[in-house]
Amino acid sequence: MIAVFCSGQGTNLQAILEAARDKRVPARVGLVITDQARAKALQRARRFGVEAHFVNPRQFPAKADYERALIKLCQVNGVVLVCLAGFMRVLSPVFVSHFSGRILNIHPALLPAFPGAHAVRDALAWGAKVAGVTVHFVDEKVDHGPILLQEAVPIASGDTEGSLFSRIHKVEHRLYPKAIRLVLEGKVRIRGRRVVFTGR
Ligand code: GRF
Repeated sequence: MIAVFCSGQGTNLQAILEAARDKRVPARVGLVITDQARAKALQRARRFGVEAHFVNPRQFPAKADYERALIKLCQVNGVVLVCLAGFMRVLSPVFVSHFSGRILNIHPALLPAFPGAHAVRDALAWGAKVAGVTVHFVDEKVDHGPILLQEAVPIASGDTEGSLFSRIHKVEHRLYPKAIRLVLEGKVRIRGRRVVFTGR
């Protein structure tokens, strides 16, 4: 079982749901969690018959309590891999250590360039010629864990944030299911900062 955590549009969630339905990912999406009541991800999940929860962080006294609730939901649903897809919260060691090596994130830049919440805007403002996508394992620091897959997306001179983001999204929707498949098929190992492919 995979869990997908989202805060917004959920287009990556949609790509993962479709990949699982079409057996391009060897597992079911069993749980979708969002921290936003109006996240479109909730409707997308329900359309696929997937259990989806808005878990409101404000209803918990502390971040650790919130994360323990998320852990419990994952446990109840037999989750083996947590995929963050636009989940706009930084997970603390409470959650990360529980699912160590079993949390993935997707980021719209070639990390370690342009971490943070505005990667595409930042790359344009910097005058970069190449943007990209990174899928990485999640550790205790933001946009920091070992890199699993990356793909470059060239920046055109007339690009706006919207036009660049839409090309990045296309790459994300292909790369994330591929990364999930590699992990679930047991084809990757984490060796320090490196992710090695075992080809099993
Ligand atoms: C993606 O661009 C992802 O890289 C970033 O947040 C965005 C989520 O988009 N972490 P969506 O909600 O999947 O459409």
